[in-house]
Amino acid sequence: MTTTGRARLAGVMGWPIGHSLSPLLHNYWLAEYGIDGAYVPLPVAPEHFAQALRLLPLVGFRGVNITVPHKEAALQAVDKADDAARRIGAVNTVVVDDDGSLHGINTDALGFAAHLKASAPEFDATLGPAVVIGAGGAARAAAVALLDMGAPEIRIVNRTLARAEELARHLGGHVRVVDWAGRGRTLADANLVVNTTTQGMTGQPPLALDLAALPAAAVVYDIVYAPAETPLLRMARARGNPVVDGLGMLLHQAVPGFAAWFGVTPVVTPALRAQVLGHVVGEAG
Ligand code: ATR
Repeated sequence: MTTTGRARLAGVMGWPIGHSLSPLLHNYWLAEYGIDGAYVPLPVAPEHFAQALRLLPLVGFRGVNITVPHKEAALQAVDKADDAARRIGAVNTVVVDDDGSLHGINTDALGFAAHLKASAPEFDATLGPAVVIGAGGAARAAAVALLDMGAPEIRIVNRTLARAEELARHLGGHVRVVDWAGRGRTLADANLVVNTTTQGMTGQPPLALDLAALPAAAVVYDIVYAPAETPLLRMARARGNPVVDGLGMLLHQAVPGFAAWFGVTPVVTPALRAQVLGHVVGEAG
């Protein structure tokens, strides 16, 4: 498909932006569906972010994804934000409405849940507590998704206890905090455990988590996607737990933005996954 003067435009704003996989996956879908459109990386320094966002309607962009370090700033900068964005405290997708106003949404919780359903269809969140390791933005998205799926209790475990407490206060309801030293023990009756920290990422040490107490049927989810199979997932797979990786979440969170900007709801397929995985492996090695 060639790009014409009528092409629909979108992109991703971040700083730096060179490692983003979003251009690869959105342009894969544009080609797949034969859409006259373009999706480009937009390197935007923090001090220019609000101004750059306001330029979108002026230069005909239908919207953008937002990545590090702008997700929290985007929540302040948009004209209106959806419920998920407010609860997570961050915007990862901006849609330019017909009147030129900026609508901020957060698709991370949706992506988390959609990939969990696709990878572990037997998982029922209502059956037991879910343990969230970490207390950053990714932890917020995972906790919001699990609460919306009906988890009776969320346990937040974070190296820095105060951040876990702050997150629990923000989320309210059935959320409690477990201290870092207790992270192995708290798995004993868990239905799911998810790593939202940077541990296990290429160049970082594995997450120090002993799975010995975890029931064999509990789902182990890792939000890290480079490498696609982290040491945590390898350990979980070896002991027979269902595993869910971060790469699928990355693909699923992209669906609502693409649908809003380009008018087609794209499908996450094994071929897309293989394409993106090739680049993750390429980067890591
Ligand atoms: P994001 O918003 O992408 O989730 P973040 O806010 O930087 O990223 O959060 C990173 C998470 O990884 C935090 O929960 C952090 O724990 P702290 O709050 O104690 O910093 C966690 N993390 C980073 N390095 C870690 C380490 N060596 N051991 C355990 N947790 C770590």
